[in-house]
Amino acid sequence: MRVVTVRLGERSYSIKIGRHLGARLGAECARLGFAARCAVITDTHVGPRYAAPAVRSLQAAGFEPVVVTVPAGEPAKCLKVAAACYDQLAAHRLERRSFIVALGGGVVGDVAGFVAATYLRGLALVQAPTTLLAQVDSSVGGKVGVNLKAGKNLVGAFHQPRLVLCDLDTLATLPAREFRAGLAEVIKYGIIADAALFGRLERQMPRLLARDPQVLAPVIQRCCEIKAAVVGEDETESGRRAILNFGHTIGHALEAISGYGTYLHGEAIAIGQTAAARLSAAVLGLPPSAVARVRELFRRAGLPTEVHLRPRALVRLLAAMRLDKKVAGGEVRFVLARRLGEVEYGQRVGLEAIPPSLAAAEGNPAQTPLQSAAGS
Ligand SMILES: NC(=O)c1ccc[n+]([C@@H]2O[C@H](COP(=O)([O-])OP(=O)(O)OC[C@H]3O[C@@H](n4cnc5c(N)ncnc54)[C@H](O)[C@@H]3O)[C@@H](O)[C@H]2O)c1
Ligand SMILES: [Zn+2]
Repeated sequence: MRVVTVRLGERSYSIKIGRHLGARLGAECARLGFAARCAVITDTHVGPRYAAPAVRSLQAAGFEPVVVTVPAGEPAKCLKVAAACYDQLAAHRLERRSFIVALGGGVVGDVAGFVAATYLRGLALVQAPTTLLAQVDSSVGGKVGVNLKAGKNLVGAFHQPRLVLCDLDTLATLPAREFRAGLAEVIKYGIIADAALFGRLERQMPRLLARDPQVLAPVIQRCCEIKAAVVGEDETESGRRAILNFGHTIGHALEAISGYGTYLHGEAIAIGQTAAARLSAAVLGLPPSAVARVRELFRRAGLPTEVHLRPRALVRLLAAMRLDKKVAGGEVRFVLARRLGEVEYGQRVGLEAIPPSLAAAEGNPAQTPLQSAAGS
């Protein structure tokens, strides 16, 4: 088992990464001094596969868990589902020293985390992420929340977990498209902070795609180390934590204009990161060879790297960035790379530079099957 520590003073916690960790859930929680009654919040895809062993492990350690199942998918990240969770926690008489286990992907982590942050003014939270995206990103760092009709993640809190348990075995059942989407965040860590990780991903992509636990374990560990370091330095995103948003300015806007669900988040940010790499070449002198390596690595991970938008869709994309509060005076603030492994945030980019960054220049033919998915 590999352990990464998130250093936040008395709120520090461990991220434990390894195989067969589901069976250790109870013993790990027993070390944290919680009360007996607890809740496992999961979804309709993950629960049938992994809730029973989690419950058995908790019971064997003397806990009294109730399982709360929310619908699978992004729509579950809402106040109505959170309210239904509160009712079940009340019925099970959870108390101040009780705890909540979030067993699932980022959706479960965000909504269960939000419930933990708010029920009884805050219960302890254990993240048991079961998607690659959740293991390397959403379960670490304490951002929890739900969506409103007006937009994603508009209601939320910072509520750090007491423990993160990444069981590599759960990744075996993840749909291939979801796994590839998670790789977009993995590749991001290489670009923003670690050229050696980027090189390792280039060498090991086939084994990563085969979900070889021996290859996955050190890669997930490295991603968690990078996120832990960034969060330890800037917990509430007053500065450097912004580097985690590399590729996300265009990615979020693309998700918004194409209707949530057209692109998975990881797919949208693969396009966004490739675009950000092209902008980086223009603004910070990132070498063209590095831009090509970024694009090629996403392509080998089975992710889209270009989008061809009709003029009306382009206008909507730029408007969506404006809504994202990242635009001021015709300029957008971007995270851009100076070289692989080194980025700078708060870089100003003129809106006119964005359309040409969305696809390879003329004469560079590689395109993706998703190229027209976000047409107007
Ligand atoms: N809090 C943060 O810092 C943060 C960071 C990044 C993303 N997020 C949020 O995370 C969410 C996306 O998370 P996600 O990509 O994990 O999506 P998700 O939670 O919707 O999971 C993807 C799908 O896979 C299923 N699934 C999960 N684990 C499985 C397993 N082991 N086997 C089979 N199926 C499984 C889920 O039921 C779902 O259908 C978004 O809402 C996003 O806003 C939060
Ligand atoms: Zn992301």
